[in-house]
Amino acid sequence: MNVLAPHEWRHKTIVAGTEWKNPVGTASGTFQLDACGDYYDVSQMGAICTKGVSPVPWEGNPSPRTAEGPSSMVNAVGLQNPGVDHYLVDELPRLKKLGAMVITNVAGHSDEDYAQVVEKLADSEADMLEINVSCPNVSHGGMSVGTDPVVLSRLIKHLRTLTDKPMIVKLSPNVTDIVQIAHAAVDAGADALSLINTLVGMRIDINTGKPIIANRTGGVSGPAIFPIALSFVWRVRQAIPDIPIIGIGGIDSGEKALEYLYAGANAVEVGAAALVDPTAPMRVARELDELLDSRPELAAKLAKGQTW
Ligand SMILES: Cc1cc2nc3c(=O)[nH]c(=O)nc-3n(C[C@H](O)[C@H](O)[C@H](O)COP(=O)(O)O)c2cc1C
Repeated sequence: MNVLAPHEWRHKTIVAGTEWKNPVGTASGTFQLDACGDYYDVSQMGAICTKGVSPVPWEGNPSPRTAEGPSSMVNAVGLQNPGVDHYLVDELPRLKKLGAMVITNVAGHSDEDYAQVVEKLADSEADMLEINVSCPNVSHGGMSVGTDPVVLSRLIKHLRTLTDKPMIVKLSPNVTDIVQIAHAAVDAGADALSLINTLVGMRIDINTGKPIIANRTGGVSGPAIFPIALSFVWRVRQAIPDIPIIGIGGIDSGEKALEYLYAGANAVEVGAAALVDPTAPMRVARELDELLDSRPELAAKLAKGQTW
């Protein structure tokens, strides 16, 4: 498929009041403008979700930070990024100049970290904020926030007072009861949920007997997590009928994106598949556009901000 060929989108979606040209976005940490921007027209994606942005530059974890398997990868990049001030004068204006719908992923080690970033983004050109409370690769904040409903509720309630932008809370699968966490986020003021982030995992080098990645454990993503992620989306949709949901995990084709929409997602994000083939998000978007042609009932619901 030539992903650079002109295309008239036929099936849009609405997520928390924002209109996407199509229901497919890039997943945080797997798109970077300088690395991926030449492969397709970023303005033609449903949304571009950026790498997590923190109050000050973070170096991330030591190398090696990734380990590949046949249908999965484990990463412990650790939210490396140049910080919110750099993001605001560099990547964000460049993405907006290209015409992209931008979701800015927000990272923190503490409530204050998240608040500082959200305050700085409140008057920015970002279309939506995605609060990452689910990263398994940072020692404080990250996943620990996303696994405790009380801590999560306190954080989201505070962030809600700092911004009018649509706020997506990105949930962790590393919990006993995803529905309880989802309710905590929604009750505290989330406008939408995205799920899932990576599952905790590891690989061991059998020649040395030692973990491959320096952080020892990391986050598992890729096709192997697809059925797991799909069930998380479905369970949250059954429990909370009206909250917009972005499904993430193992998507590498239009068919898999379509399964998420039938599970109750309003939209999806493509992650690790883009590390294998940088054009994957656009290819998935075009495959899905075609699949939706023969599913008018689903397409009509998405266009109205409803779900299956
Ligand atoms: C290398 C890498 C970096 C990531 N960085 C982030 C991040 O900064 N913030 C975040 O919320 N999720 C991050 N993620 C998680 C992805 O956005 C996504 O939730 C996860 O990989 C599952 O989707 P996939 O199976 O399509 O990759 C990262 C994933 C990978 C593989």
